[in-house]
Amino acid sequence: MKVDGSLRNFYHYAFPMQAVLVTCKYEEKTNIVTVAWHTPISAKPPLYGISLSSKRYSFELIKKSGEFAVNFAPFEILERVHYCGTHSGRSVDKIKETGLTLLPAKKIKAPLIKECYAHLECKLRDTIELGDHFFVVGEVVSVSGDDSAFEKGVLKIENVKPVYYLGDSTYTTVDGNIKREF
Ligand SMILES: Cc1cc2nc3c(=O)[nH]c(=O)nc-3n(C[C@H](O)[C@H](O)[C@H](O)COP(=O)(O)O)c2cc1C
Repeated sequence: MKVDGSLRNFYHYAFPMQAVLVTCKYEEKTNIVTVAWHTPISAKPPLYGISLSSKRYSFELIKKSGEFAVNFAPFEILERVHYCGTHSGRSVDKIKETGLTLLPAKKIKAPLIKECYAHLECKLRDTIELGDHFFVVGEVVSVSGDDSAFEKGVLKIENVKPVYYLGDSTYTTVDGNIKREF
């Protein structure tokens, strides 16, 4: 039997969604925001999109700087992922509060997060207003990741436990126990 759900929460039906940490920097302000609504868009040119509300301080920093980085977080830093998604950089210094380690990126001024296992450096290509969010489109200009996390460019899921969001402040991960190769 199928049960009707609430349209207001339609996106709950798309969970779990991987929660990533997006870093941005404008002048002396560096910030981290947790984002679950994100996706690759194009291979050639390489484009990646994140859906951001204009209320986010990060939206302001990304618009002003024209850059951002997407950092893929492991489950060990879950509390810090949650913190960055429940506090605004307008009122707290999330780098200081979380103790996350910043690394310089290769092609952009926004830093990368050392504790994350993969990173996409993006130059802002477009912001498209769609409903109550903006689709923030970045051209990926550099990609890097932990040596132990990848084999020939494929994620070694047994070495990495990504953070997945289930909604309502609930998270899960996968440990790679169910895996098939073709
Ligand atoms: C797991 C999780 C996922 C989130 N995903 C998004 C998202 O995709 N887009 C968005 O605009 N906000 C998202 N948020 C909310 C922002 O992370 C949150 O409002 C944050 O405090 C904004 O920080 P800032 O003002 O420093 O940019 C998410 C929050 C959590 C906890």
